[in-house]
Amino acid sequence: MLEMMASRLEARGKDTRFLGMIDDYLDAVSVTDAQQVLDLGCGTGVVARRIAGLDGFAGQVTGIDLSPQLVAKACDLATSEGLSSKTTFEAGDIRSLVFEGSRFDVTVLHTLISHLDNPVVALQEAARVTRAGGAIVIFDDDYASSTLETADAGRAAEIDNAMIEATVTQPRAMRRLPRMAKSARLSIERCFSYLIAEVGKPDFFAGLVDTIGPMLLSAGVCSEDEADAIAADLKAAVVEGTFFGACNYYGYVFRKS
Ligand SMILES: C[S@@+](CC[C@H](N)C(=O)[O-])C[C@H]1O[C@@H](n2cnc3c(N)ncnc32)[C@H](O)[C@@H]1O
Repeated sequence: MLEMMASRLEARGKDTRFLGMIDDYLDAVSVTDAQQVLDLGCGTGVVARRIAGLDGFAGQVTGIDLSPQLVAKACDLATSEGLSSKTTFEAGDIRSLVFEGSRFDVTVLHTLISHLDNPVVALQEAARVTRAGGAIVIFDDDYASSTLETADAGRAAEIDNAMIEATVTQPRAMRRLPRMAKSARLSIERCFSYLIAEVGKPDFFAGLVDTIGPMLLSAGVCSEDEADAIAADLKAAVVEGTFFGACNYYGYVFRKS
């Protein structure tokens, strides 16, 4: 599962639309002026490595992830890309960060918040380790509006919900973020919104079509027969050119007062 996840994160991190969304928020916080950047839930280090590789970036990026295996992968990729002098990757939990004091100029949570049991605690920890005047960026899919159309129109909403439940614990996190940020005393400086919609043949969603069967099964949201039928239906739609998939991404920039 971890190998599959690492490949999907890396494939997504090479998608030009996805990179464009990352660059939008990195530009908005003038990340090249930052000395200390924190990438929480860094996975294979897609964002940390993007920052470390930017022309003019002379600071340090620290990536933290719960999975030691993904941290090891991030270290290997940074080394092979010649970025190891500007990056550090460590295993850790956003719910209890080891950093004392508020030393980060920019803290990024990139496609993490919807996966957490308690996003408010994560926001409070991110705010705690970010210096006054520093920026906190939260970027993720508004999973509650994600959809992959399947053959049985009568069950389409139910199947969407099973897919969402198999993927995240907080499908409405991105629309609840303004309220959550208020309780963490963060003010919204900017919000970016994006629609990714693919009709006919998928590109961004291609990895999901390949992995949806095992994903639904391992999440226990449907039977093996059902998971196989949904996966086969989506693959048939790709071959026939009748695929429809869409999701909305949001990028919030918060400022710590
Ligand atoms: C969808 S992945 C995103 C990875 C990376 N930010 C990217 O977009 O390529 C979510 C990541 O958050 C990590 N994660 C989940 N819960 C965490 C926690 N409590 N503390 C730190 N990392 C966590 C997972 O291990 C996983 O690598």
